[in-house]
Amino acid sequence: MGILTLDNFDVKDKTVLLRVDMNCPIHPDTCEILGTKRIEEIVETINALDGAKIVIISHQGRVGRNDFVGMEQHARQLEKFSNKKVRYVADVIGSLAQKEIKEMKGDEIILLDNLRLCAEENYEFSLEESARTIMVQRLKDLFDLFILDSFPSAHRTHPSLVGFAQVLPTCAGRLLEREVKQLDNILTVAKSPFTVVLGGSKVDDRLKAIKLLIKKERADHVLLTGVIANVFLRAQGRIKFPLNIKDEDEMVASAHSLIGDHPDVFSTPVDIAVNKDGKRVEIDVRDLAKDDEIFDIGTKTLEHYSKIVASAGTIFMSGPAGFFEKDNFQFGTKSMLESIANSMATSIISGGHLTSALKQFNLTEKVNHMSTAGGALVRYLTGQKLPMIKCLEDAAERHAKV
Ligand code: 3PG
Repeated sequence: MGILTLDNFDVKDKTVLLRVDMNCPIHPDTCEILGTKRIEEIVETINALDGAKIVIISHQGRVGRNDFVGMEQHARQLEKFSNKKVRYVADVIGSLAQKEIKEMKGDEIILLDNLRLCAEENYEFSLEESARTIMVQRLKDLFDLFILDSFPSAHRTHPSLVGFAQVLPTCAGRLLEREVKQLDNILTVAKSPFTVVLGGSKVDDRLKAIKLLIKKERADHVLLTGVIANVFLRAQGRIKFPLNIKDEDEMVASAHSLIGDHPDVFSTPVDIAVNKDGKRVEIDVRDLAKDDEIFDIGTKTLEHYSKIVASAGTIFMSGPAGFFEKDNFQFGTKSMLESIANSMATSIISGGHLTSALKQFNLTEKVNHMSTAGGALVRYLTGQKLPMIKCLEDAAERHAKV
């Protein structure tokens, strides 16, 4: 890897800015963190920064969605897992944050608030522009070193991800270093057929990723669950009413052309579980009514998908198959993970929800690789250079010239 790591820097008495990805699954009603895997994973880097003043930054959720919450509870969780005091500061780039950072003492740890509270962090910038953002300009002089340890956002070009890397000495944190090494090792032995199991709700990202995965011959079968499955079912004409999701027409058209171009690749659910007053009711997809709440895949779908999983050489799963946080609807996610765990294939399970689900169902030891990343990992599997890796390589080159 042509990138610098913490082994290249002496961090004692330095003030470091640590960009992590603590974007966790959030309960839609209570707004509480549902899975802490991404928080647990960054403890290794924090321990490696002994003696430094650490300012941690992360985003959580997307503006307008119910997972867009502040970072106070993340600080409490991090404190629990790291056994170190973590002070939450309810500000990101304002005078409070700046004052708190300037006044840090000893080996204090601060967690700033949700980065996406700053408008700029919700836009993608070119690397040059990102260095000129208000966020980077306001904070950059307060730090000696910038550490990128947020592999799940490695495909994004938000200012906190690529901007600081242009203006500060920059290296990878322990989690990113470990993830990239392990993935590279897995990809050298990965064998076909490649089966991709996709769920979750980030349909736009998934559609782009599917196209790339097929093009790069990394997706012989694509098994769909979650909201993306509904988009494909709509494209197939098996759901006959609008789903009422953002950019629906565009996404359905994109799904339609994917099915047309690759008719043998996609599998969609034949039955689904809907929520009837908290109870699970399985129905044929064709019997779905407009007001039904789809919460999981059904038993017949699972049987069909499990057969494809059993004959796969490499399996990649990203995004849960249903609302696994509710007992009645964990069947699809749990059973898919069990099928993968029991198969002979090399398995990669990715994303915050699924890594939490693996832990919940005691399957962590049975898969080959568990990545904290979702969308970023899909891009990585296609062989694309991720912006975060580019920034780290550029920073290493600059460092070599000094
Ligand atoms: C993820 O969960 O994939 C990362 O945290 C990136 O989140 P985003 O898709 O909202 O940018």
